[in-house]
Amino acid sequence: MPLLEGINYGGEKTAVIFDIGAVYTKCGFAGETGPRCIIPSTVKGPKKGQEVNICRSTDEKELYDLLKSFFNKLYFRHLLVNPKERRVVVVESVFCPTVFRDTLAKVLFEHYQVPSVLFAPNHLVALFTLGIPSALVIDVGQKETQVLPVFEGVLLLKAWQALPVAGEAIEKNLEAQLLEGCNVKTAQSTDKPLSSLMVRCCFVTKLSRAKQMQAVAQGTGDTGQELTPPPGIDYPLDGSTVLHIAGKIRETACEVLFERDAEETSVATLLLEAIMKSPVDARKTLAENIIVIGGTSMLLGFKARLVEELRDLREKPRYKERLFVDAFKFHSPPGKENYVAWLGGAVFGALEVLASRSVTQEMYRADPVLPDWCTLHETEELDEKASLHKKMAATR
Ligand SMILES: Nc1ncnc2c1ncn2[C@@H]1O[C@H](COP(=O)(O)OP(=O)(O)OP(=O)(O)O)[C@@H](O)[C@H]1O
Ligand SMILES: [Mg+2]
Repeated sequence: MPLLEGINYGGEKTAVIFDIGAVYTKCGFAGETGPRCIIPSTVKGPKKGQEVNICRSTDEKELYDLLKSFFNKLYFRHLLVNPKERRVVVVESVFCPTVFRDTLAKVLFEHYQVPSVLFAPNHLVALFTLGIPSALVIDVGQKETQVLPVFEGVLLLKAWQALPVAGEAIEKNLEAQLLEGCNVKTAQSTDKPLSSLMVRCCFVTKLSRAKQMQAVAQGTGDTGQELTPPPGIDYPLDGSTVLHIAGKIRETACEVLFERDAEETSVATLLLEAIMKSPVDARKTLAENIIVIGGTSMLLGFKARLVEELRDLREKPRYKERLFVDAFKFHSPPGKENYVAWLGGAVFGALEVLASRSVTQEMYRADPVLPDWCTLHETEELDEKASLHKKMAATR
């Protein structure tokens, strides 16, 4: 239970904050400096020993059951609190599928009878950890990398950029390279793919080395002069088996993030494209307030390489005359990158405005369609929702 709750004289109990990611879920209490636990987003499947990822299901009924058991685990094994007593903040991806959002609300309101739920976009709440109104937020998570600018507290949706390369792409690359270059006895490992554990043995190399490697691979460089690879690493699989990961694999596995695809896009170009799609007078502010979040950005050397790539790309003809940006500056949020969005939710959950911004149990019962900020341009609907809010407030 939250620390210092004893001094909360008769007030309402601290809200609980959930950030449900494609691989890891972060959960804890509002006003705290870090999540109480970061657990895999999985529940026990029907088969013995099988773990099912809750984000993989698209069938509403199946998803409902999975989320029900997942929240049972969160509330009664990890947080040890009564769901009926605490407001909920869900930190969600901006483009979270509607079916997932609706089913999540149904589970929380109907099954767990929570008093209220607030859905907060992860890119927006990341700013709360720093107390700044504008930033360019890049989230490098598991499935994809998403960039979204926030200017004076408003998400600039039309400048949103995404690329399906992040943790999963590195894992796949690593898996292919390990199977090709090493003798991996997967039978002795756990059910998890080995590559998902070994990502942490890799690092992002310097731009100059990456360029040299590319030149050698394409046969355009000095092929006679092979680069000295970094040292390999011994990764213990169990008590007796040790897998040797070659230095070259450690260095090249993460290149997938920065290699430009057929459309010339990479994780670095996403930032520049997002800046270019933003209003001209906002560009300088955005470029000087970059926030990097998501577990994959914790890779050694990631940020240094990102800076190098941005500086290099800025000189390219596409950006040179159209970017109007002199410098790129990065913030250091007060937490590890993988839970910065959760931390933003924890800050927001501790504010007094939480009650007025959340969807309450009564509102949900009156109208189970959740207000979606993406459809806020539908003013009629907005007006209806606002009048419903007023009616609810008056009856309370
Ligand atoms: N210290 C670390 N070094 C390198 N990679 C890491 C580290 N910690 C986590 N990761 C990687 O980060 C990824 C998970 O990041 P994160 O928790 O942000 O994803 P998620 O929120 O579950 O996914 P998404 O945001 O895409 O829904 C995994 O691929 C994991 O391997
Ligand atoms: Mg995430």
